[in-house]
Amino acid sequence: MHLIKTLTRHLTSAWPAVSLSVFAAGPAAFAQTNPPVVQIQADKVTAQTPPTFYGLMTEEINFSYEGGLYGELIRNRTFKADAIQQNLKPDAYDPTKYYPARYPANPAPKYWNRVGDATLALDADTPLNDALNVSLKVDAPKAAKTAPAGVANGGFWGIPVEPRTAYKVSFFAKAAPGFSGPLTASIESTNGAVLASAVISGVTGDWRKFAATLKTKSVPPSKDNVFKITTTVPGTIWLQEVSLFPPTFKNRPNGDRADISQLLADAQPKFLRFPGGNYVEGNDFVNRFNWKQMIGPVEQRPGHKSCWGYWSTDGFGLPEFLGWCQDIGMEPVLAVFAGYTLNHDHVTNGPALAPYVQEALDEIEYVTGDASTKWGAQRIKDGYRKPFALHYVEVGNEDFFDRSGSYEGRFAQFYDALKAKYPRLKIIATTPVNSRVADVVDEHTYVNETAMEAQAFKYDSRDRNSPTKVFVGEWATQTSSPTPNMAAALGDAAWLCCLERNADVVLMQCYAPLLVNVSRLTGGDRSMQWSYNLIGYDALNSYGSPAYYAQKMFSLHQGDEVLAITAQNLPVRSAPAGRGGGSREVKSLFYSATRNHASGKITVKIVNSADAPQPVTLAISGVKSVAAKGTATVLQAANRDETNSLKDPQHVVPVTEKVKDLGANFTRTFPPCSITILELEAK
Ligand code: AHR
Repeated sequence: MHLIKTLTRHLTSAWPAVSLSVFAAGPAAFAQTNPPVVQIQADKVTAQTPPTFYGLMTEEINFSYEGGLYGELIRNRTFKADAIQQNLKPDAYDPTKYYPARYPANPAPKYWNRVGDATLALDADTPLNDALNVSLKVDAPKAAKTAPAGVANGGFWGIPVEPRTAYKVSFFAKAAPGFSGPLTASIESTNGAVLASAVISGVTGDWRKFAATLKTKSVPPSKDNVFKITTTVPGTIWLQEVSLFPPTFKNRPNGDRADISQLLADAQPKFLRFPGGNYVEGNDFVNRFNWKQMIGPVEQRPGHKSCWGYWSTDGFGLPEFLGWCQDIGMEPVLAVFAGYTLNHDHVTNGPALAPYVQEALDEIEYVTGDASTKWGAQRIKDGYRKPFALHYVEVGNEDFFDRSGSYEGRFAQFYDALKAKYPRLKIIATTPVNSRVADVVDEHTYVNETAMEAQAFKYDSRDRNSPTKVFVGEWATQTSSPTPNMAAALGDAAWLCCLERNADVVLMQCYAPLLVNVSRLTGGDRSMQWSYNLIGYDALNSYGSPAYYAQKMFSLHQGDEVLAITAQNLPVRSAPAGRGGGSREVKSLFYSATRNHASGKITVKIVNSADAPQPVTLAISGVKSVAAKGTATVLQAANRDETNSLKDPQHVVPVTEKVKDLGANFTRTFPPCSITILELEAK
């Protein structure tokens, strides 16, 4: 049980500045029985809402791309999941060089199974090319019409099938002398029903690419299916880059899964922070995010081991991040590799760091350059004619973990070079620095609901004179797994109110992690590496958590001006303190207000995180009038444990209704465990 209490404590030095001015308002403010009053000064604009305030943060974690957003349905399509890579120390590593992987003497690659009496083997002696320097050898000496033989792939915990849908299959193949096929590519249910198939002829002794379309009929949606390539003619074949794509979002070739993309697009994020997170750093130098190996045709991309423990083909590489930005209308916020990896290896600033700085400059040119530039021309070749707008570049990720202290020098070298070539770029530091004045510092916060609510006034007291602004580049209320419940959504909304109120200091913010494949939450081959994530999915379906809906509400309802807002008599609740047990008092009412300058509409956000209804008086000064009628959009749940899931994806969703009895001064009762957005027609 969480207790609602009117604030009984006297003012202490721990109270944030915003409350100080409120309590100084007059003796009545101290009356304990008075209901909370939220005061909005409509004639006092404290900030222009930054154009890139609400965004997304992303990296390859929890099968976010492969097995998630990236449309590819085949797991380990390049057979490199077993690759053994060197772990080179920075002084032995040349960043411009490609270090080919080796392979264990392995009878069959991971996630591939034989069909019939075929024998499977990883074959490093029959590579497709230098990047994909291994292939799958399929020996089927006894294949026959009555005994098809070949290979099967179960996808990322299933192969999804929708009715009347066209799936694009492609692969590279070659055969031993005497075999010319045909091959059959099919999607079959695990109980053997063929759901779609195509016959592919013309396999020869040379590598060739084959493509076909697999069309389903009026079958029910399902995911307990496998993809197969089989033959009924005896022989030996080699395969590489075996790919199966469903229709993608906006029909982009090599594109994204439509349902997840739609959830993201619906929240109207304005920027994408990529490619991490830890993913930009990598576990070691060979496995860092090396963007030059993640562009061009997908079969020329070697792939690498993601720091989250699984292989990435890098089919979702730098061009695909840009395609994602383009499809959803987001601006890239580019994190560049800054010479430090998660195993604490680092390059010292000076000549050794110079190639990495050049790599970052080239990457910016790839994103922003026109056809006259080397890397801009490469981007155009990769399918993106128009240069992308880029205002922010982040140097590294969480470099406070680099105990060597090398970040000061590394940041300075990047900063100087980036500013020299792109003076208008804003450079983000991942931790406070003294060597240069960073334009922005990225601050991360992952805490439980109680702690999030306790820190929900943090930026009210931030130094307004600092030239360095804040990017809250990773944050989440960590309550309930794999995706957050209503309690977490309440903590998130409290935090978002704080960020929005302080948009003069906090320029951008994005939740993390964004995506999780919820197919297998535990065990060796699990699909989840991080326990709290915004959006969940399996091979077939996806859902947004209550926290997703809270963010969507905030993103969709914001004016372009932040208004001064204060409060009195804030209630508190007794909440679980966390791991150590016990409880602590935290405020249970949170607020922010913005206005649309052109229309005058005032958008007020009120979060009641208590388990009881809360009457609140809203007093708006600096306006001629506020209409009695307006709109309320409310996210609420019967209790804070309520959540969404694959089985019940819309259990907690916002509801919008017309409301009355509003005005320049009104009292409204906010439901327990609720996030409310009031839209007031003001003049
Ligand atoms: O969001 C998950 C991880 O948390 C990120 O990769 C890292 O930056 C942070 O520590």
